[in-house]
Amino acid sequence: MAIDFGHSPEDYAAESLVTPISTRADDNEYSLRPQRLTEYIGQQKAKGNLDVFIQAAKMRNEPLDHVLLYGPPGLGKTTLAGIIANEMGVNIRVTSGPAIEKPGDLAALLTNLSENDILFVDEIHRMNRAVEEILYPAMEDYVIDIIIGKGPSANSIRLDLPRFTLIGATTRAGSLSAPLRDRFGVNLRLELYTPEELSFIVKRSAGILGVPIEETGAMEIATRSRGTPRIANRMLRRVRDFAQVRAGGVITRNVADEALTALEVDYLGLDNIDRRMLRAIIEFYNGGPVGLDTLAATINEDTVTLEDMYEPYLLQHGFLTRTPRGRCVTARAYEHLHIPYPGQQQSLF
Ligand code: ADE
Repeated sequence: MAIDFGHSPEDYAAESLVTPISTRADDNEYSLRPQRLTEYIGQQKAKGNLDVFIQAAKMRNEPLDHVLLYGPPGLGKTTLAGIIANEMGVNIRVTSGPAIEKPGDLAALLTNLSENDILFVDEIHRMNRAVEEILYPAMEDYVIDIIIGKGPSANSIRLDLPRFTLIGATTRAGSLSAPLRDRFGVNLRLELYTPEELSFIVKRSAGILGVPIEETGAMEIATRSRGTPRIANRMLRRVRDFAQVRAGGVITRNVADEALTALEVDYLGLDNIDRRMLRAIIEFYNGGPVGLDTLAATINEDTVTLEDMYEPYLLQHGFLTRTPRGRCVTARAYEHLHIPYPGQQQSLF
C-alpha cells in the first residue's frame, strides 16, 4: 500500500512549535503513525463505530460507505484514513481539496482507482465548486460525466468507476456544502485528546524513537500539547534534544519543563499567539465581545488560523467563550495572565 502524504502551502507557512498544521519536520511522523485500529489511542467513539462499519463492509465484500472525518487539525485524520485502508485491505490515494484544481484532475484520480480503493481528500472544504460537482455522481452512483468539446457540439459521456470509498477530512464541517455533506454515509467527529491519552501516545512514540522517558516526563509533554498528538510528537523531539544535551538522554519531568519553557510554551500549552489573543481581548476590548476578524487584525494573525488552530483549545479549557456578538475572555484567562479580573464589567452598552 503506497501512501503519498501531500503537503499543502500552509505546511511551510506556520512552523511554530504548537502549530497543529503538518510541517516538513513532521515527515517522519509517518513512522510514528499507528497502522491498525488497535494501535490507535483515544477517539473511542469514532474508533468503536468505525470498527463496526469496517467489519460489516468486509463481511458483505463491499467498499466502506463514504466517510467524513472532521475536527481540529493534528488529531489524526490522515492517520485514521491510512488505518481504514489497512483494516479494509485496500489501497489509498491521498490528495487534498486545493490540489485538485480542475474537474479533469479529479476524473484522472477516480478512473485510476481499483475496486474498493480509498480516495482520501484532505481539506475537502477547500475543493472548488466545479470539481465538487463531479464528485456527486461519483459518490452516489460510481459514475462521472465528462463533457467533450465546447459550445453546441459539446457532448457528454458517462464513465463507470470502480466502487470506491471517499474519505474526506475537514477542520470545518460547517464549510462543506449541504449536497456534499449529505453524500457521506459516515460522519466521524474527532475530539481533542485527554492528557492521559496524549501521555500514552508520547510514551508509544518515545518507544519507537528509542528515547527513555519517565512517566512524569510523558505527562508534562501531554499536558502542554493542547490536546493534539501532532504537537505532542513534535514537542517530544525537541524535549529529546534537551534531554540528550542536558540530562544524559532521559526525558524527565524537569527536562521536559525546561525545554518547553525555553520554547515559550507555558504549563498549560499556551504559546505566544494564545497569550496575545487573550491579552488583546482584555486590553483593547475590555474582555470582549470582539469579532474574530477584528481580533485577528489587532494581533496581525490570520482569521482562519485563529479559528481552526487556536480557538478549539482555548474554548475547551474555558479561557474563551463564543457569543453571537463575538469572542469574550473568561475570569480564568485573566487569572492565567495574572491580570486582575474586573468582575461583571462587561456591559451590554
Ligand atoms: N500518533 C498520532 N496519533 C495517534 C493516536 N491517536 N494513537 C497512537 N499514536 C498516534
